[in-house]
Amino acid sequence: MFDPLAVRAQFPAVQNGSHDDECTVYLDSAATTHKPQIVIDAITHYYSQQNANVHRGSHRLTAKATEQFEQARDTVATFIGATSSKEIVWTRGATEAINLVAQSYARTMLTEGDEIVIGEMEHHANIVPWQIVAEQTGATIVKVPMHPDCTMKVEDYQSAFNANTKIVAIGHVSNVTGTHQPIEQVIALAHDIGAVVLVDGAQAVAHENVDVTALDADFYVFSGHKMFAPTGIGVLYGKQSLLDSMPVWHGGGKMVTKVSFDKTTFNDLPGKFEAGTPNTAGAIALATAIEWLNNLDRAASEAHIKRLQNRAYTKLSTVDDISIIGYQADASVLTFVVDGVHHQDVATLLDQQGIALRAGHHCAHPMMDALGVKGTVRASFAIYNTVEEVDAFVSAVIKALDIL
Ligand code: ALA
Repeated sequence: MFDPLAVRAQFPAVQNGSHDDECTVYLDSAATTHKPQIVIDAITHYYSQQNANVHRGSHRLTAKATEQFEQARDTVATFIGATSSKEIVWTRGATEAINLVAQSYARTMLTEGDEIVIGEMEHHANIVPWQIVAEQTGATIVKVPMHPDCTMKVEDYQSAFNANTKIVAIGHVSNVTGTHQPIEQVIALAHDIGAVVLVDGAQAVAHENVDVTALDADFYVFSGHKMFAPTGIGVLYGKQSLLDSMPVWHGGGKMVTKVSFDKTTFNDLPGKFEAGTPNTAGAIALATAIEWLNNLDRAASEAHIKRLQNRAYTKLSTVDDISIIGYQADASVLTFVVDGVHHQDVATLLDQQGIALRAGHHCAHPMMDALGVKGTVRASFAIYNTVEEVDAFVSAVIKALDIL
């Protein structure tokens, strides 16, 4: 049974109001989610009871930290359906994971004339690393257009593909509108022409079961902080054959087997991509968040989130001067503009009424350009939000419109 109030009670920041003593309705979970007490406890426990470096030293504390750190990797591998924990590389987040693939895989593989295909609705994190590597290698970026309803079509990806296509960078779910992209079909078509696909799953993993093996994704990346874990920990999944073939990226301790001034040799997977002391507490806390999620009735919790989003949509879509952007019935976000009013003015008036949400370009300038807007207002709903909060949000928007 999914009991929204019982789940909400597990999130201290929601209970306390997330801005010190002020009571805030937090509708910004697509930017970062709150953390359940069990995740906060995992971090506190690690630092207060354990705290040792991993894969180094010879005492019991380091052995225990290493065991937990590697168990966390196993938990992530199982969570996303990887065939081996060697396919799970810890990163600081989704952004770093994409940069790793761009600078290791793409930089050594791409040559002049090769093409990287990217959709117009992608987050900057799934555009800029590819622009950097295109500049370094002479490869070309090919843009796939977004449709006015904020969807991406398989046919457009297919039209963009040709013998020069080497990499396809695609988001699983848009951070702006919650649009699901047709990743299964795009992956299959890309493989037909010998291209590899990186899927940015940052907005998907908290909301749906992901099976990277069934998807046949070559790379899949996500961040912990959007799925109830701390900031500063994220995951690069890569097929083992690809990760094995890729050169090392960051240099330092742990990613080596032997260092000498004549010749340095490198570690096997996944250590070869994990230079320096890792975010051990973050990895353990991410595994805790995954176990916590696994214990929920995820179908019921997602249905709750969709109900909240649909309620907000139903109430706001009939309000004069509000235009909902790219509404997706199965999304956890709702994006809108107020005709003739700057998005930041709307957000400020909402903030003054205790409603926390994101306004701006959402790190998706090309998508904003395609929509012909400078920015939007985005409410994003999570498992701990309530119907009362949705109603408070809608009332606050209507009040803001009266003022504007
Ligand atoms: N990418 C995050 C968002 O959409 C920060 O808000």
